[in-house]
Amino acid sequence: MSKLPLVLPFDSLVSSAQLTPQIITGLFRITDDMTAIVKQSGTTRLLEDKIVALLFFEPSSRTMLSFQTAAQRLKAGTVFAQSANTTSFEKGESIEDLIKIVAGYADIIVMRHSQPGSAAIAAEVSNVPFINAGDGGNEHPTQSIIDSYTIFKEKGRLDDLNIVFGFDSLQSRSIHSLSRLLAQYPDNRFVFTGPDELLPDDKLLSELADAGVKCKVQSEVDYRDNYDVIYVNRLQQERFKDKKLFESNRRKYRITKRDIEGSDVLLLDPLPRIDEIAVEVDDLPNAVYFKQASYGVPVRMALLATLLGKAN
Ligand code: CP
Repeated sequence: MSKLPLVLPFDSLVSSAQLTPQIITGLFRITDDMTAIVKQSGTTRLLEDKIVALLFFEPSSRTMLSFQTAAQRLKAGTVFAQSANTTSFEKGESIEDLIKIVAGYADIIVMRHSQPGSAAIAAEVSNVPFINAGDGGNEHPTQSIIDSYTIFKEKGRLDDLNIVFGFDSLQSRSIHSLSRLLAQYPDNRFVFTGPDELLPDDKLLSELADAGVKCKVQSEVDYRDNYDVIYVNRLQQERFKDKKLFESNRRKYRITKRDIEGSDVLLLDPLPRIDEIAVEVDDLPNAVYFKQASYGVPVRMALLATLLGKAN
């Protein structure tokens, strides 16, 4: 990999469409460096003079805790807001005003918010770097770095991949972000599967087609066909207007041991797992979702340090 310093052409990360192959290569190299630092000494003083603001207005386990861990391993201080109703959002404050205030306190802002498009609004008004940690059902770009890093570690490439995405491609921000990131690499082929109502919208499909990806949508898939990666995400319960649609489909789409045992296909899931993968699958060597989650810390260390101009 290149040893040239990674210079990002942006101050804030809102969408995975910003993550070109060159940037991804640089972030992977810095992620490897962060992994080595953590293994060798646990922490580094790279961000000892920085404060990271963690604003999580939607629930999170992995993203919030791995950003916090990443900040602490870099010796940065952290400030937190953990739900809308413990901040002045409750009194009607706007996203714009809140971000302008927090930008006066911290050196970088990480925000998860339920409103699609909230990250772009926040990045526009922030005068410190801003990271989208999930804006409703729209995008989750830092997850896409973790996901692509996992695929790269296991398969050694991010091009010429035959990938199944399921099972809520309409509402899964992780699927939106990973498919947009991988669309920038040549010769990738995507099959989207799940209930008809939860297949990707025309906007995403035409964006991917314009980028040269061969896309199919299928209500059923034989997982033993020649796929390189199966990427599944739970049906996004909190985003369903029609709760019956969620209940009637939640157990219909599920990966079992029989689907992937003995094959080379990688099984990824950004997690949390609800019904989409049977627990019996966890012990298979190609079930890599817990390893995938563990990469959250070094990837987010790399991103924080790079956006703050402290990585090279
Ligand atoms: N993958 C992910 O975003 O998990 P959390 O919702 O727990 O942060």
